[in-house]
Amino acid sequence: MKVVRIEHVYKDYLLGEQKVQALKDITLSFDPGVFLAIAGPSGSGKTTLLNLIGCIDTPTSGKIYINDQDVSGRTPDQLADLRARTIGFIFQTFNLLPVLSAAENVEYPLLQRKDLSREERQRRVAHFLDIVGLSKYASHRPNQLSGGQRQRVAIARALAIRPAIVLADEPTANLDHKTGEEILLLMKRINRKLKTTFIFSTHDKRVIAKADRLVRVEDGEISLLGMRKDARWSFARHRAAEGGGNGEVPTEPPAAAAGEQSHADQN
Ligand SMILES: Nc1ncnc2c1ncn2[C@@H]1O[C@H](COP(=O)(O)OP(=O)(O)OP(=O)(O)O)[C@@H](O)[C@H]1O
Ligand SMILES: [Mg+2]
Repeated sequence: MKVVRIEHVYKDYLLGEQKVQALKDITLSFDPGVFLAIAGPSGSGKTTLLNLIGCIDTPTSGKIYINDQDVSGRTPDQLADLRARTIGFIFQTFNLLPVLSAAENVEYPLLQRKDLSREERQRRVAHFLDIVGLSKYASHRPNQLSGGQRQRVAIARALAIRPAIVLADEPTANLDHKTGEEILLLMKRINRKLKTTFIFSTHDKRVIAKADRLVRVEDGEISLLGMRKDARWSFARHRAAEGGGNGEVPTEPPAAAAGEQSHADQN
């Protein structure tokens, strides 16, 4: 099973009269449990791609499958239900509700889940605040927390629904390097322990180096797929226009990448 499968996806935006092609013929798939970075220059389509995977937005054409289920053609209500059960979000600017405490922020997405009792919600809040090391800060409001602590609350909130996938758009961009690194290590620890799939976008080479899979986008197209084994990256060039690649992010170093290996810290 693929946790995410994207087939020939295009996304256009209309800007007045002008059509902006944000994504062009993206074909990609990921296995469950990956720790995957989407990298690329500003404006290349990273956020657009995350929003499509997260079912926040829908493609202009092409198909997206989440856990092998086709999500195209679903109604906004059906997509909201899928998100509430399957996908956790972490944002660059944390997006916590300022009037709610850390615990209430973590509980917030669970309120949509009518199948969860109050006790179960509170059990999860306590559990995930503990996982991110913030049990003592449960009653603090966001403005009483540091940036790194706020992002930890956001991680606990994303995890509380027990998602199959956590999507994080530039999760470390508003943090200093040390805090950003701690947040990334926390995400990785959770990825290993809970087997949650993490897909995050980033500009930061140090963040990319922590991933175990890489998708590089340039100008709305995939230019490179990579996987890391120990400290070594292997890459497969991917140019849909040249007929190359089926978009499957490799689980073993691709044969095509022989001679194209380099150490993570040289990228
Ligand atoms: N709502 C929108 N309306 C019109 N154009 C948009 C919209 N959202 C994004 N775009 C355009 O789509 C392209 C891809 O944008 P996107 O936000 O996905 O890039 P990004 O890789 O996330 O960039 P950054 O690193 O700066 O966050 C850009 O050319 C952008 O201007
Ligand atoms: Mg972006």
